[in-house]
Amino acid sequence: MNLLAIETSCDETAAAVIAETGDPAKPWQLRSNIVASQTSIHREWGGVVPELASRQHLRDICGVVERALDEAGVGFEQLGAVAVTQGPGLVGSLLVGVSFAKSIAWSFGIPLVPVHHLAGHIESLVLQHGELPLPAAVLVVSGGHTSLYFVREPGHYGLIGRTRDDAAGEAYDKVAKLLGLGYPGGPIIDKLARQGNDRAYPFRVPRMTHADRVHPEITAPPGLLPEKAARNVDFSFSGLKTAVMRVVSDRRTTDHGPRTTDHGPRTTDIADIAASFQRVVVEALLDRTFEIAGWLGAASVGITGGVSANSRLRAEAEARGAKAGLPVFVPPLSLSTDNAAMIGAAGLRRFRMGVTADWDLNALASMAL
Ligand code: KG4
Ligand code: ZN
Repeated sequence: MNLLAIETSCDETAAAVIAETGDPAKPWQLRSNIVASQTSIHREWGGVVPELASRQHLRDICGVVERALDEAGVGFEQLGAVAVTQGPGLVGSLLVGVSFAKSIAWSFGIPLVPVHHLAGHIESLVLQHGELPLPAAVLVVSGGHTSLYFVREPGHYGLIGRTRDDAAGEAYDKVAKLLGLGYPGGPIIDKLARQGNDRAYPFRVPRMTHADRVHPEITAPPGLLPEKAARNVDFSFSGLKTAVMRVVSDRRTTDHGPRTTDHGPRTTDIADIAASFQRVVVEALLDRTFEIAGWLGAASVGITGGVSANSRLRAEAEARGAKAGLPVFVPPLSLSTDNAAMIGAAGLRRFRMGVTADWDLNALASMAL
């Protein structure tokens, strides 16, 4: 069966065709994967402008879907189902995809499958690598989320930990803005950090706030982890962002060298700040993920979402996996940042679990996985 998938949760208009293989170990095959990015539109505002995003989705969606079908060599009449991201995301953006998917499903008399965006990021790993050795600890690390899931059986995702404040990708984007580097910040910092000294600034692994330490909420279901570990799973990145902000404003008052912008720190420092910031983010993400994977007795570790494109995160994850004797899975770069192929994979999973939507399906800005 061929499934058409549509993803419009943020600033990428995406469509893909995914086919079933009949092989339970590697259940899906990618037939096409089209992404129209709006980055150049939002860049001049320093971040995604929701109203501009939904208008651009409207302009792009027909062409993107047509191209996905063309490249797959599949006509509308050969589709067995349509999957669409229902949430979480920008509601105006999501609505474009949801309405478009509904019209296709209704017109061709095929089922409509609602997909959680983060299930898409998780299933991108299976689309690429086949079913993961289970149980798996899967870190979803993107612009909107930093969440650790425990996958005991295919298609079931248990939330173990999450960020209390900024997502890791959001921290990358905010720090890039502070350094006058442009949007989105992740790829720019990733590249710049290669030229910097990652020990130049003694940033530290982000810690919970005092209130969190005194009255910790526990995200993981009771009994899954020892209490000490359960209290320590959640992430926090806003303190690190503040530490970078302090360094930048100190530099502003003491520096006299060449600058990247009128307001930013000296060019020579920026690579060092980027490298030091990135060292700490990667350490925080991997320390927590591997520690919890150990407690959970995981047979594999997955890392997915936009930030999984990060070169240092990939290299260190692999090194830690080798050391711990745990296979580590990341998506290829084309499936790391937002795309519809991953929504197609999660869509086929859900469809075969019996999940379809009625015509009153609505977009949801936030929803639990
Ligand atoms: O998954 P994604 O495309 O969208 C969301 O679901 O949020 O993730 C986008 C995020 C952005 O914050 C972007 O800066 C970050 O992923 N990102 C990276 C890299 N490439 C994208 N962060 C670090 N290093 C990268 N190479
Ligand atoms: Zn995403």
